[in-house]
Amino acid sequence: MLILGIDTSCDDTAAAVVENGTRVLSNIVSNQTEIHKKYGGIVPELASRRHIEMIWPVIDEALKAAGIKLYDLSGVAVCHGPGLIGSLLVGCSFAKALCYSKGIPLLAVNHLEGHIFSAFLEESKPSCPFLALIVSGGHTCLYRVDGFGAYRELGRTRDDAAGEAYDKVSKLLGLGYPGGPVIENIAQGGNPKAIDFPRAYLPESFDFSFSGLKTAVLNFVKRNELSVTSKDASPVTHHALLNDIAASFQASVIDVLVRKTEWAIKKERIKRVVLIGGVAANRELRKRMEDMGVEKEAKIFIPPISFCTDNAAMIASAGYYHLDAGDIAGLDLNPKAYMPL
Ligand code: KG4
Ligand code: ZN
Repeated sequence: MLILGIDTSCDDTAAAVVENGTRVLSNIVSNQTEIHKKYGGIVPELASRRHIEMIWPVIDEALKAAGIKLYDLSGVAVCHGPGLIGSLLVGCSFAKALCYSKGIPLLAVNHLEGHIFSAFLEESKPSCPFLALIVSGGHTCLYRVDGFGAYRELGRTRDDAAGEAYDKVSKLLGLGYPGGPVIENIAQGGNPKAIDFPRAYLPESFDFSFSGLKTAVLNFVKRNELSVTSKDASPVTHHALLNDIAASFQASVIDVLVRKTEWAIKKERIKRVVLIGGVAANRELRKRMEDMGVEKEAKIFIPPISFCTDNAAMIASAGYYHLDAGDIAGLDLNPKAYMPL
């Protein structure tokens, strides 16, 4: 069965064709980073306008790359939330129109459920139950997955998502957007133990919190009178210190993510962990999580970066299981900005 997946939840227009929930025939993503870069973050109205321009070209490319026509499809899976409402509307409206005109099933997929299913696009797949840590710009949450539709949230961020913390810290250091890759790069030249930034372990809970860390970085910058955000002062002036700030900030984020996952392995007695979301592109996080897995004899599954970040192959994969379960959405499907899994 061939499913077309569509995701327009945030700033990426994505379409993919996946066979039987696991074999990716195409996976196309049109990125909007250049549009939002100058604003230091995503501008929702610009994102939805760009989705309107890109939705058909991206879907067309996904079909062509897969070597199929619209009438070969068994269904269309679309992300209907959570996300930016204007952006979600574009993907949902397009998916509904396609299904109506071709008479094929519409499959509604929660974005977070989609992220979990990116684990099934690889040769080596986790068996259930497994733990899924989703770390992106919009989400930081830890789930226990017992099977299709059986997801239990163990914890989530109480404030900023991990990727959001990277982006905000990068902005306050004058390093641009998106912050994750920039901070990761300059952290390489720094000492992760140079500054003792806080780690919010929130004992007795699997929840996360990163806003205190962001404030600690801001206070450190102010205390040390670093004018890194001023236009006249080049960040290069404080090169060594910037490297240390980035490395120490990153160490704090990663310590918390790894430690909490380790606790969940112990408490839930599950030795399989899937790490997904844009922040999973971080090499230091991947390494530290894998090292922890070796130590705790747990298997860590980390999909390739193209499946970690927002993509539509994960939506098509989850959509296949919805179709298999007979869970077909009505053509009155409405997207929702807030949608817990
Ligand atoms: O999953 P994603 O592509 O989009 C959503 O937010 O849903 O994740 C984007 C986030 C951004 O906050 C970005 O700064 C972060 O992932 N990110 C990284 C890295 N690459 C991207 N964070 C840390 N290290 C990276 N290498
Ligand atoms: Zn995402």
